Amino acid sequence: MTAQLIDGKAIAEVVRREVAAGVAAFKEKHGRVPGLHVILAGEDPASAVYVRNKEKAAKEVGMAGEVHRLPATVSREELLDRIRVLREDRSVDGILVQLPLPKGLPEDEILDAVPADKDVDGFHPLNAGLLASGRPGGMVPCTPFGSMRLIDEAAKSIPGFSLVGAHAVVVGRSNIVGKPMAQLLLARHATVTIAHSRTKDLAAICRQADVLVVAVGRADLVGKDHVKPGAIVIDVGMNRRDVDGKSKLCGDVDFAGASTVAGAITPVPGGVGPMTIAMLLANTLKAAERHG
Ligand code: GUN
Repeated sequence: MTAQLIDGKAIAEVVRREVAAGVAAFKEKHGRVPGLHVILAGEDPASAVYVRNKEKAAKEVGMAGEVHRLPATVSREELLDRIRVLREDRSVDGILVQLPLPKGLPEDEILDAVPADKDVDGFHPLNAGLLASGRPGGMVPCTPFGSMRLIDEAAKSIPGFSLVGAHAVVVGRSNIVGKPMAQLLLARHATVTIAHSRTKDLAAICRQADVLVVAVGRADLVGKDHVKPGAIVIDVGMNRRDVDGKSKLCGDVDFAGASTVAGAITPVPGGVGPMTIAMLLANTLKAAERHG
C-alpha cells in the first residue's frame, strides 16, 4: 500500500467534538438544546442500523430528539401528519426522513413536506437549488458535505495539491450524493465530470481524476486501473458481501488494488460513513442556531 489512509472515524470525531462544544454554547445562550427528529418507516435492516447510529450520536453531543418508528404500512396521510406536527413544534430543529421509504409512498411529496429550515438532510428543492446556484446558506446533504471535509483533510498532506482547476470525477448521479457532490466541487473551482454506471469506458475517465468520488452502490466497480497515480479516492459505497459465510461491509472501490496507486484513499468501513453522521449533527446545530 502506498496511499495515505483517510481516517474518517478520527476526522468525524473531531467534528463531533466541535458540535458538542457548539451545543453546550447554544444551551448556555438559549436555555434549550437543539432537537433532531428522525422518521423511520418500515423495517429495512440497513436503515434501522443507520438510524440507531444517528440517535446515539445525537445523544452523545447533547441534543434532544426522538426516533419516530412507523410501520411499513403507514399511509401517505399519516406520514404527512407526523411531519406537520414536527414542523409546528418549536423544539424541533431538524427533521430527517430515512430513505428508502416503503414502496408506494410518494418520496418527493414527503421530502418536500419537511420545511427547508428544518431539512438537515439538505434534500428540499430550496436547499438543492441554493447549492446548485452556488449560493451559500442552504443545508448541504450530509454525505457529500462529509466527503468534502475528507478531501480537504487529505489535501493537507499532499504537497502542492489544490482543488482549484483540479479534475474531479464523481461516479454516481443520485440526488443524495452524486449531484450535490459535483456542485460542492464546482463551488471550489474544480473541473467536474459526472460519470455513472452506464458511462462508456469508465476506467479511462476515472484515470483523469485528481479527485475520484465513487457513489454508485456496486462492489468493486472501481479498481486499480481506474485510479490516476497520486489521486485522492473517496469511496461512498456501502455494500454487503459474503466473506467466509459472514456478511461484510465493502465499498465501491477495490481497496487493496486502488491503494497501491492512489495518493490517499478512504476505507470502508471507517471512511465516509462516520462523516455522514457527524455532518448531520453539524447541520442540526446550524438549524438550531438559525431558529434561536
Ligand atoms: N438513506 C441513505 N442515505 C441517507 C441519507 O443521507 N439521508 C436519509 N434521510 N436517508 C438516507
